[in-house]
Amino acid sequence: MVVFTNSLNGLRIKTWARPTKGFVRGVLFQHVIMKNVQNPIVIDQNYCPGNLGCPNQDSGVKISMVTYQDIQGTSASEVAVKFDCSRKNPCRNIRLEDVKLSYMRQPATSTCNNVVGSAGGIVVPASCLKKGLVLLAKRGMGNGDEVQNKQVIFRDYYVSGLPKESDLILNAATIELKVPEGSKAVLLKNLYLSCDPSMRVRMKKLPDSASYLPSFRPGSPLYGFGVAKVLDSGHPDFKEGDLVCGLIGWEEYTIIQDSKRVGMLTKIQFTDVPLSYYIGILGIPGLTAYVGFYEICAPKKGEYVFVSAASGAIGQLVGQFAKLMGCYVVGSAGSNEKVDLLKNKLGFDEAFNYKEEKNLAAALKRYFLEGIDIYFDNVGGKMLDAVLTNMRLHGRIAVCGMISQYHNLDEPEGVHNLMSLIVKRFRMEGFVVSDYFHLFPKFLELMRQHIKEGKMVYVEDISKGLENAPAALVGLFHGRNIGKQVVLVSEE
Ligand SMILES: NC(=O)c1ccc[n+]([C@@H]2O[C@H](COP(=O)([O-])OP(=O)(O)OC[C@H]3O[C@@H](n4cnc5c(N)ncnc54)[C@H](OP(=O)(O)O)[C@@H]3O)[C@@H](O)[C@H]2O)c1
Repeated sequence: MVVFTNSLNGLRIKTWARPTKGFVRGVLFQHVIMKNVQNPIVIDQNYCPGNLGCPNQDSGVKISMVTYQDIQGTSASEVAVKFDCSRKNPCRNIRLEDVKLSYMRQPATSTCNNVVGSAGGIVVPASCLKKGLVLLAKRGMGNGDEVQNKQVIFRDYYVSGLPKESDLILNAATIELKVPEGSKAVLLKNLYLSCDPSMRVRMKKLPDSASYLPSFRPGSPLYGFGVAKVLDSGHPDFKEGDLVCGLIGWEEYTIIQDSKRVGMLTKIQFTDVPLSYYIGILGIPGLTAYVGFYEICAPKKGEYVFVSAASGAIGQLVGQFAKLMGCYVVGSAGSNEKVDLLKNKLGFDEAFNYKEEKNLAAALKRYFLEGIDIYFDNVGGKMLDAVLTNMRLHGRIAVCGMISQYHNLDEPEGVHNLMSLIVKRFRMEGFVVSDYFHLFPKFLELMRQHIKEGKMVYVEDISKGLENAPAALVGLFHGRNIGKQVVLVSEE
């Protein structure tokens, strides 16, 4: 919490009115108390003291993605929020969330010139809403009830490092609970969100070809796989009350207008299992484990299988598939609690805590005296390198993921032991689950049967409440999740 007392200025962004290629982007002002402050919130894009050297020039500085969140207190000037941006170069994506400033015990006022953005929650002063800022829900035009829509906003691209909670902003927007008249949109109440390691990759600006998933958009909610309930629909394939699974926003409600994205929603037909299973064992992680193990690894009874990140969403399923196949299975995980889970609940033959091993290749040798036939790789990096020297003749490696590298894609760790590929003539193949969506019906039938017959155990880590979603996502990269990490946004 920051407190300004009796000062002339509060939160001020001031840029010179001169041609420039500069920009101010991705600023968060949060938790500030103003006590009798002149000009508590100001963006002055056309600052030119005494009109010296810059008469009538527009500022070239681009200002975007500035969020004012939880700013409270008293203003010493009647106008407490003043946005003065250039006509040629309006300030974009300026957000006011829960701004409550009073002047002489009345709500203070605001002025807005050439500013585009949004306001949500209780915004006082609200005068800017008429000029430039829009109340998020007013876009709906559908005459429904307007409610708060909590969101997890992606702040901005960054290149290296682990994701942090501060890279995500909790936002209180509002939304109208009705699709626009005559549209084919679908309005969803979000129930469960899936936390996926690949979301870190999407926090970096990548050319479309560099990743199999598009990057997130700064200033917009994260999105990923989730389970939701249809509240309203203009689309012939969906009706109120339908339960669906697909790509949804990290927010309480999502309206999907784009017909391509609506087409990617799948109706949930069987509700005899927990709904969260559709983003786990019966969803993308389940299909990934199934495809990677059966299609890429082509397993045979009695083979020696190693799985990394073995207690996670995918790893736990791969290990159980391997056991059903009659293989010997060893898993690695990052804590003794997880090792215990692997051996005593998920049926792995052996497991070890890789963080306690000084020499990974030696650790693998301990469990695979005759070498590894199949490695299901979820982590890449040092573990992959250690596996390479332990592979058996004609083995297979399914390269599913490389979570150890996602935070440093520009300078990934090198893999050194590739000579083994020649000596041991094994196959190493990467795969992306979306290439195998046609197998989904077959997979679903098999998995439902396995669950019904009690052949598969499934461990979930459910974090309750959207406000805990950033911590849940970040936790994946520290191994805090035990099992599939899910966020419960709302009970049905
Ligand atoms: N190819 C595809 O189509 C596809 C589809 C979905 C997912 N994936 C990939 O599959 C992998 C597993 O995903 P998931 O959803 O099942 O995740 P998960 O295993 O449930 O969660 C991630 C786990 O990775 C481990 N980890 C984190 N940082 C690590 C590091 N630096 N080195 C080693 N391990 C680390 C942690 O477990 P520990 O405590 O064991 O360290 C963490 O719990 C990911 O790489 C993901 O990107 C691929």
